[in-house]
Amino acid sequence: MHDPFTIAGCHDAPDALAILDAAARTYQSGRVEVEALRPLDLCVHRGDFLAVMGPSGSGKSTLLHVLGCLDRPTAGRYLLQGRDVSRLSDRELAKVRNQTIGFVFQRFHLLRDESALRNVELPLLYAGTPRSERRSRAQAALDAVGLLERVDHHPGQLSGGEQQRVALARALVKRPRLLLADEPTGNLDTASGTRVLELIEEENERGTTVVLITHDPEVAARARTRLMMRDGSMFPAEA
Ligand SMILES: Nc1ncnc2c1ncn2[C@@H]1O[C@H](COP(=O)(O)OP(=O)(O)O)[C@@H](O)[C@H]1O
Ligand SMILES: [Mg+2]
Repeated sequence: MHDPFTIAGCHDAPDALAILDAAARTYQSGRVEVEALRPLDLCVHRGDFLAVMGPSGSGKSTLLHVLGCLDRPTAGRYLLQGRDVSRLSDRELAKVRNQTIGFVFQRFHLLRDESALRNVELPLLYAGTPRSERRSRAQAALDAVGLLERVDHHPGQLSGGEQQRVALARALVKRPRLLLADEPTGNLDTASGTRVLELIEEENERGTTVVLITHDPEVAARARTRLMMRDGSMFPAEA
């Protein structure tokens, strides 16, 4: 197992997917500057399954937003598939996100007034995929999470676990290289959470790289590498 904190040699490694090179993110909060992410070196290899733990406010979501191109580092660099994405425009960043990243959030973030199928079709719509192909791919993605019978249901007609599986289907419909999950089981009962985790694990076994944030040590135990954040810095979770 490689050391995720060593990026020397990582730039040339063919299996390096995401590299943070002294990447940091500060927020201006009134007159106070918050160092949400302190300068961090991190190398995520293809096929990795990383779990990130740490107390509330320690910078976990900030890290995931940077890795997921929802945000940029305010210092240092972020290289994704060898490309420096740290200074891209919003529009370029959105494109990289659409092509490379799948995101699952604690609160699902589904469109309430759209069917499960339409929700899952959205990333394909943004990518300009033709309608008939959108349909069939979204159906296949919903089938893969066990929701083929729910394609016409709206989020309000689905349980929390089902909504998160729709969100997972949406995250996976474009076969992203990198799947990012921010406390995906945080709002779910144990059985539903386990089902969602199994699906994420299966996706990792298929080769998709996964970075997952969790408060739950049992959830983290399923990952291959455990990392801990505190006050914007990251450490190996095991002693
Ligand atoms: N948009 C923002 N503006 C100002 N401060 C923020 C913003 N987002 C996060 N922070 C601050 O950055 C720190 C890390 O936040 P976050 O990454 O959300 O932590 P976690 O996900 O571990 O709970 C916290 O102190 C938080 O208040
Ligand atoms: Mg968070």
